[in-house]
Amino acid sequence: MSAKKTDLANLMWSEKYRPKKLADVVDQKEIIKGISNLVKNRQEMPHMLFAGPAGVGKTTTALCVAMELLGENWKVHVLELNASDERGIKMVRERVKGFTEWRGVTGEQQTKNLFKIIILDEADEMTSDAQTALRAMIEKGSEVTRFILICNYLSQIIEPIQSRCVVFRFTRLPREDVIEHLKMICEKEKVKFEEKALAQIFDATGGDMRHSINIMQAAAGMGSVSSANVTAAMGLSGRAKVGEVLKLALSGKFNEARAKLLELTQVYGMSETDFMKYANQEAYEMAINKPDEFAAIMAEYDYRLAAGAHPEIQLSALLAQLGKLAKK
Ligand SMILES: Nc1ncnc2c1ncn2[C@@H]1O[C@H](COP(=O)(O)OP(=O)(O)O)[C@@H](O)[C@H]1O
Ligand SMILES: [Mg+2]
Repeated sequence: MSAKKTDLANLMWSEKYRPKKLADVVDQKEIIKGISNLVKNRQEMPHMLFAGPAGVGKTTTALCVAMELLGENWKVHVLELNASDERGIKMVRERVKGFTEWRGVTGEQQTKNLFKIIILDEADEMTSDAQTALRAMIEKGSEVTRFILICNYLSQIIEPIQSRCVVFRFTRLPREDVIEHLKMICEKEKVKFEEKALAQIFDATGGDMRHSINIMQAAAGMGSVSSANVTAAMGLSGRAKVGEVLKLALSGKFNEARAKLLELTQVYGMSETDFMKYANQEAYEMAINKPDEFAAIMAEYDYRLAAGAHPEIQLSALLAQLGKLAKK
């Protein structure tokens, strides 16, 4: 696995092999059929609400809808928000407002009759007050925007929002489909695999495709997707990985440290607060130089994160600070 670039799209197989067309989404057949029908007539696309467990294609499907409807320039007409990252409805409102008011590239929006799509992930993390405010935004922006809301638990979404959206319930992916998809990736990546190792991955992840691919990639990084490597990959402790990030940062290897950090947060899904917690524990066990200065830096970033600053930016800056510590 080359970690030269921080470009996650190439680093992570789960990103590299994320389907780009609705037809390529594995399983979820009824949903895909329903959505394909709904989006045939662009102007009639309704707001949509995707519910279901992690790693089964909700975000992927939302992105495919955007790509198929908006074509080449889809990215500029799509706003992707994560409700739990945005720290409150105020932030969401501002981002949505700015985006809906924005006229688009050289009026293209008007001439081509395009609308904008707002994909709001983890909508069920919003309080019901926040959801009420969201509902107003959905109504206000309906002329030029379509919302695709994503959640794990439909029951956590207030009824007035549910009733304004076409709801799709995503389910866990079946065994054969997951295994077949994993095989396809192994073949494309020219990686050796054992059948029983793939079955083992499915048993551990229960139809969460993202998690399956990530475990498989970690095993492949050890040489091949063998049963032994899969077992080892599943046991990799998050804390040990945080230790590696710290070591890289403290020896001034900022780019490598950041790539590993992104892998941890994006692939293994480690939260920024867990990262801070583990980094703190690891550092004292590693008996680092200048623990007092280290503590001061950690405290500062802990505070910034708690105050709601952007986690990826803050953690990257933290790594840069730690690098300076080494040079002092
Ligand atoms: N139905 C699916 N078909 C193909 N790949 C999938 C599917 N579901 C998940 N994946 C893989 O897992 C990754 C994460 O999927 P995503 O759509 O973000 O899941 P979520 O349901 O949590 O939004 C994708 O990038 C893709 O590689
Ligand atoms: Mg998602």
